[in-house]
Amino acid sequence: MGNCFGCCPDAAVDEKPPSPSKGTKNATAGGGGGGAGRQEYTRWPMAGDSGGGDGAGRQEYMRWPMAGDSGGESGQVLDVPRLRVFTLAELRAVTRGFKPEMVLGEGGFGTVYKGWADERTLNPAKSSAGVVVAVKKLNPESVQGLHEWQSEVNFLGRLMHPNLVRLLGYCSEDRELLLVYEFMPRGSLESHLFRRGAAFEPLTWSIRIKIAIGAARGLAFLHSSERQIIYRDFKASNILLDADYAPKLSDFGLAKNGPIAGKSHVTTRVVGTYGYAAPEYVATGHLYVKSDVYCFGVVLLELLTGQRAHDLNRPSHQHNLVEWARPYLTGGRKLTSLMDQRLAGNYPPKAALRAAKLANRCLCGDPKSRPSMDDVVAALKEIESIETATKGRRDLPPRAPVVARRSPHRSSSKP
Ligand SMILES: Nc1ncnc2c1ncn2[C@@H]1O[C@H](COP(=O)(O)OP(=O)(O)OP(=O)(O)O)[C@@H](O)[C@H]1O
Ligand SMILES: [Mg+2]
Repeated sequence: MGNCFGCCPDAAVDEKPPSPSKGTKNATAGGGGGGAGRQEYTRWPMAGDSGGGDGAGRQEYMRWPMAGDSGGESGQVLDVPRLRVFTLAELRAVTRGFKPEMVLGEGGFGTVYKGWADERTLNPAKSSAGVVVAVKKLNPESVQGLHEWQSEVNFLGRLMHPNLVRLLGYCSEDRELLLVYEFMPRGSLESHLFRRGAAFEPLTWSIRIKIAIGAARGLAFLHSSERQIIYRDFKASNILLDADYAPKLSDFGLAKNGPIAGKSHVTTRVVGTYGYAAPEYVATGHLYVKSDVYCFGVVLLELLTGQRAHDLNRPSHQHNLVEWARPYLTGGRKLTSLMDQRLAGNYPPKAALRAAKLANRCLCGDPKSRPSMDDVVAALKEIESIETATKGRRDLPPRAPVVARRSPHRSSSKP
């Protein structure tokens, strides 16, 4: 949720989300009972709720968010978050006591664990019977906390789209803050682009473009919602991949509502991740919807080059990928020498050049001159078709085993 520069006090949403316990209803699932598996449910109020006092037992299991439920192709924005409220004891059971073997990774907010829950009720389940979920638990030493957690609940809890990770529920108990997500079996794009090992086969050209298109669609959805949402933390580690490498955006801890009343930007503290943030935002704190487009341009460059946005292990003139790559994007230098070696030349040069030019437009210094995310999606679809028309579809990489892994903490450095 943001490997941040700057601390994040203003990462809080401007409209305070309802407190998790406020406005909720209790109902006993399955018509009461009292036998094993009985579950006291609390849920957020929902649009359409009449409050008509139909009594317990009317609670519909299917109203819980479900991992595969993405609100249809074009997505959906709910009026209020629809999330399962978990107790700490339940999440302990889901993750087998937060065992180290269950760790999927670690980020700025805390540790992410694998667990199992019943598909319908989201009760803790046996691994043989349940669906896999990911549980993110706040590290008490993290600079992140309540603000990011609330932001995640308030934004991601209301958003449904095929390219956004589904938030299933949350827990706030004994100062512990946790979030429960659908499980993304192939982990983050960052791992696949920059890590080595059996689980991280090089991504083919067609998969890179597929990831770019899906991630662009996720951003386009946020930007097109009635009150535009600025994601603010678009980066390779926040793009998670399903078993077929379809991408979904995660981590809405830094998300912000877009400008209103004819304004072009919102003014806010500068937080984000080094190497990704748009220059106007870093310089002035003015955050535009198009600031996300800049971040997208950086990730597109990462997909093309296999190089991190910011890397102090490279020679000093190459620390910042955008500065390093700029002359290659404008035709001043040969693009092939910058392309990811792991592609081994297996990409259509014309498509790569178009993608580089698109990245260059996204990285334009003036936010107004950057394309909209809808335009980016359209351009990427054309780039994808060049590939299919000239070379035919390339296969997925060999299906590497999907393993639980710990991602080492990354260190921050100057943008
Ligand atoms: N829903 C999920 N399914 C599977 N793995 C996940 C899921 N969410 C997170 N992970 C794993 O946990 C790791 C840490 O995620 P997290 O979002 O906490 O941090 P990050 O994105 O790596 O860093 P940052 O704090 O900068 O966002 C991810 O890189 C990924 O490998
Ligand atoms: Mg993240």
